[in-house]
Amino acid sequence: WSYGRSPPVYPTPEGTGVGDWAEAYARAKSLVAQMTNDEKANMTFGYTSTTNGCSGNSGGVPRLGFPGLCLQDAGNGVRGTDGVNGYPSGIHMGASWNKKLVLSRAQYMGAEFKRKGVNVALGPVVGPLGRIARGGRNWEGFSNDPYLAGSLAYETIMGLQESVIACVKHLIGNEQETERNTPLLIPGSLNQSASSNIDDKTIHELYLWPFQDALRAGAGAVMCSYNQINGSYACQNSKTLNGLLKGELGYQGFVVSDWGAQHAGLASAEGGLDMAMPSSPAWGNGNLTLMVTNGSLARSRLDDMATRILASWYKYAENSDPGSGMPLSLLAPHAMVDARDPASKDTILQGAVEGHVLVKNTNGALPLKKPRFLSLFGYDAVAYTQNVPTAASFGKWQFGLENTQVIPGVGDFNDTYLEYVFLSSEPADAPVPGIALNGTMISGAGSGATQPAYVDAPYDAFQRQARLDNTFLQWDFYNTDVTVPGGSEACIVFVNAQSSEGWDRPELADTYSDDLIENVAAQCNNTMVVIHNAGIRLVDRWIDNTNITAVIYAHLPGQDSGEALVEIMYGRQSPSGRLPYTVAKKAADYGALLSPALPTPDAIWHTQVNFTDQGVYIDYKHFDLYNITPRFEFGYGLSYSSFEYSSLQTRIVGSSSASPPSYSGNSSATPEGGDPSLWQTIAEITCTVANTGSVAAAEVAQLYVHIPGGPSKVLRGFEKTFLQPNESATASFELTRRDLSTWDVTSQTWVLQQGSYGVYVGKSVLDVQLESALDI
Ligand code: NOJ
Repeated sequence: WSYGRSPPVYPTPEGTGVGDWAEAYARAKSLVAQMTNDEKANMTFGYTSTTNGCSGNSGGVPRLGFPGLCLQDAGNGVRGTDGVNGYPSGIHMGASWNKKLVLSRAQYMGAEFKRKGVNVALGPVVGPLGRIARGGRNWEGFSNDPYLAGSLAYETIMGLQESVIACVKHLIGNEQETERNTPLLIPGSLNQSASSNIDDKTIHELYLWPFQDALRAGAGAVMCSYNQINGSYACQNSKTLNGLLKGELGYQGFVVSDWGAQHAGLASAEGGLDMAMPSSPAWGNGNLTLMVTNGSLARSRLDDMATRILASWYKYAENSDPGSGMPLSLLAPHAMVDARDPASKDTILQGAVEGHVLVKNTNGALPLKKPRFLSLFGYDAVAYTQNVPTAASFGKWQFGLENTQVIPGVGDFNDTYLEYVFLSSEPADAPVPGIALNGTMISGAGSGATQPAYVDAPYDAFQRQARLDNTFLQWDFYNTDVTVPGGSEACIVFVNAQSSEGWDRPELADTYSDDLIENVAAQCNNTMVVIHNAGIRLVDRWIDNTNITAVIYAHLPGQDSGEALVEIMYGRQSPSGRLPYTVAKKAADYGALLSPALPTPDAIWHTQVNFTDQGVYIDYKHFDLYNITPRFEFGYGLSYSSFEYSSLQTRIVGSSSASPPSYSGNSSATPEGGDPSLWQTIAEITCTVANTGSVAAAEVAQLYVHIPGGPSKVLRGFEKTFLQPNESATASFELTRRDLSTWDVTSQTWVLQQGSYGVYVGKSVLDVQLESALDI
């Protein structure tokens, strides 16, 4: 594609009700047939509710029994209301590498959304994928790797959609917050959203990949993003919506705009948008109906919009009373709808446990063994001081955490003005840029922030443990130039790395926290560092300090943060998290993948983000390509046990002809997720993993493949296995046609490469234990 030109693809493929959508489509079509054009149009955009606090409400057709939809943030739990749980965030679950746990989390979250009267849960996030290290919303998604992100998005959709419609977002190229949406509301500004300029191959092999998994799981809604793609706004981009999503991938659900991301009326209708949020000057006031009656827009397109919305509702979310458990104002007296299932407790805690990644552990410093004298430091150890709705938050519980965690000045994301206006970088009045200074961080900030039922801070959990063990506990969470009590057997420092929707991170490490860590380490030869990090956090200033004996990336554990940390630090469970991204030695090692693109004068108000220079080579593929040694590689994480790998076997089991015989592409029979032959198993890989250490622990066996012509390794399988000491198990991986193919831009198909594929099984992308080849 030429720079700045997105190919036109018209008309919008109509939903066909393929596969298990048949019944929902039959019902939807018969209801739409009874509607006037005004009624159909009314379903396609949002309105401001006077009765509920949903993030968005779409219009209903009460005459025919369709009440409209309540759409509510987000992917890590129900946002900004009462009676809900605060689950571990996306990045935390990515670090768990645990599909079953991710499924279970989504099942419980979905049930909470449903009990609140929500029809559409606005998650999971697979875009941003994490192209740039400083990206403000990377923490909402699972991983920078499309295979890991896609696998966990699949499980999440399956779980959520047992109760509600899942809305996978943001399609596509929403990789930076800087200049993400047109600030039309700033008087005098002519600015436009950044354009993510991405070539066809990179789209398929990287950014669209996890969306394809989400569709294969049957996602009922997709949110188009704020940015432009190749110079055309995402919510009117006919190539991505009509061509890729509804054509190639056979998408049957509806496309909803991000809030305020609709930039034109007719162009978005024809470009494939089905619902505009949170309201639509372009389609409202009779405009969409008028487009049909004056012949500008085919009536079939309007019918298709209404049909897609209804079909998804019938299939997944026929809740009777949208928004019923979502009070408009949390300040006004109301009966709380308690959406929490007591049975979710184990999943919430275990999810919190498994996202912790231990990256340094000198001479078995961890687990702690009933220390007699323990000292705690750092602003991140204690719960923040306020977590109630305030009048300033417009009668809604804006952030839970965000209220106190978001840097003053960023303010309130439900404020319509700020919803549309996005800052280039963190505001200047941040007390300390890059960290949440006023309490332990269990979630990132913005619309993906969780509302916890309570916060079990590290300090709380260490107090409980001290009581049990009769430990003498000292703490100072206030000072940076701390004095360490001389009797301390161990000193634990708690810091964080903050990130939010609305701005990209100012840096990947902050001096304030690093000073604190070094101050403690200078006085304590058994210093342990716990970092609640909403993204990549560099540690090179002090990682080799021999007084620092243990380091944990604690990510964003949700409400059970403290208890989960104690599980690990006291050895009740071995750490089993692995990094879902690459930690560099220094920021510059990320190269062009460090920072957001900024507006340049020659681009005439337009920020151009060039994705094609890197292509698929982001994260570990970038480090590999340029031969840069990372501090901690993708997939890395320590355990209290040790594991041995053996008996690698590879077998071709499926037809390995270059092109599948059956599928002609883009037909009305295309199932969701696209060409069905992509899911055929072509090869099976097995190996044995044995726990050779002395404690029970889970290992994450990782399969990487070299596809001829591609990066030297790409993740194509992972299996987490819990093993007792001396126990072993078989890890098996199935490689599908898509897993082993590359996207051919000429034939517009996935093509298996002829030749020798490298097969690597190991503990991380660099720690390969077994190696073989697969000849195709
Ligand atoms: C904007 C965010 O980009 C999106 O993820 C969210 O769902 C909507 N606002 C609604 O709050």
